[in-house]
Amino acid sequence: MNIPFSPPLINNAVIEEVTDALNSGWITTGPKVKRLEELVCEYTSAPNALCVNSATSGLMLALKWFGVKQGDEVIIPAYTYAATALAVIHVGATPVMVDVKEDFNISAEKVKAAITPRTKVIFPVDIAGWPCDYNELKDVVESCSENFIPETQIQEQLGRILIVSDSAHSIGATYQSKQLGTVADITVFSFHAVKNITTAEGGVLCISLPQPFDNEEVYKFLRCYSLNGQTKDAFTKSKAGGWRYDIIYPGLKINMPDVLAAIGVAQLPLYFSEVLQARKQIFEVYNNGFKGQDWAILPPFEDSVKSSSCHLYALRIKDCTEAQRDAIIQKISSQGVAVNVHFQPLPLLSLFKELGYDISDFPVAFNNYKCEISLPIYPQLTSEELHYIIEIVKDSVASELC
Ligand SMILES: Cc1ncc(COP(=O)(O)O)c(C=O)c1O
Repeated sequence: MNIPFSPPLINNAVIEEVTDALNSGWITTGPKVKRLEELVCEYTSAPNALCVNSATSGLMLALKWFGVKQGDEVIIPAYTYAATALAVIHVGATPVMVDVKEDFNISAEKVKAAITPRTKVIFPVDIAGWPCDYNELKDVVESCSENFIPETQIQEQLGRILIVSDSAHSIGATYQSKQLGTVADITVFSFHAVKNITTAEGGVLCISLPQPFDNEEVYKFLRCYSLNGQTKDAFTKSKAGGWRYDIIYPGLKINMPDVLAAIGVAQLPLYFSEVLQARKQIFEVYNNGFKGQDWAILPPFEDSVKSSSCHLYALRIKDCTEAQRDAIIQKISSQGVAVNVHFQPLPLLSLFKELGYDISDFPVAFNNYKCEISLPIYPQLTSEELHYIIEIVKDSVASELC
């Protein structure tokens, strides 16, 4: 067998929607993007949603809006993809890394200990689609609000640290029965090619700020900022007589084109009606397949507060060294099953080492990483393929650990 890790789900509905965009005479930001934003609001209940060209850009945009700059600090988990930290670096601020918990996600306790007068934002990351402890994080920022030093009018209005969730993995996950998108102040989903819903490249910011913010006004600002700070988008400008515009902010150029949004417009309803459920079923097949194995640490799936979007199946192997894990991956791969590791904690990567981050400060992140293997999880997998994967994984672990 030859089982890829995460192929995109491209059906006729996707091809028809993309063809429609191509035939429409308008291929960059326009009606398909607007439709995708409406669908995101409809399915997540977020008050407003803005599509951009990646989740990385979305995180940067949120920081720009909040006025985060050089000298400010943004708290992030050490266990995440590099984009979480790079978004902070791109606006000139400093990522402050903290350790995670056994469930892969940022520790609210460690966040509290890392807050300083320079802390402006926290980026919790819902690793593998499993929501972070948002209530605990909200309690932490509330309890530290007296020490928050606002430097812009927006910061003054909020009066506390902003919570921007890096929800690159977690569209469709729930927290206290609410869809993510309404739980953090701003939630950023990724539509990258391997994500649960894709637009090839892309992302969306869900804006769900508390009073006194007007989410619609914030949306308008972010939209303008995502289009060079230009008062009119190209679609509006292309209408007869609509040529004059102004530039009112030093904006970014991070808008999503219609031809890509079209993929998402076709995928999103199917995801919420069928695909998410199919992912959950695969997750359970894996859980049932591995639960009797004394070496298996099963990934979090659901509890009384949260449910996962089942973006990754992050299996861990008890008492396994990094070298043993790598050898197991080698064995699994040689049998035609593509697996992955999510993630190499950032302090293991050259850039972050050079910036002074040290993996010994993040023992839980390292322990989660050293024994982790992400298995394929997507609705095109047949039950024959799933059972093949389970058997190959069991055999490979047994032959390496015995
Ligand atoms: C945790 C996390 N954050 C952010 C990103 C960035 O997403 P994008 O590729 O849409 O910029 C990714 C992408 O894989 C990710 O895994």
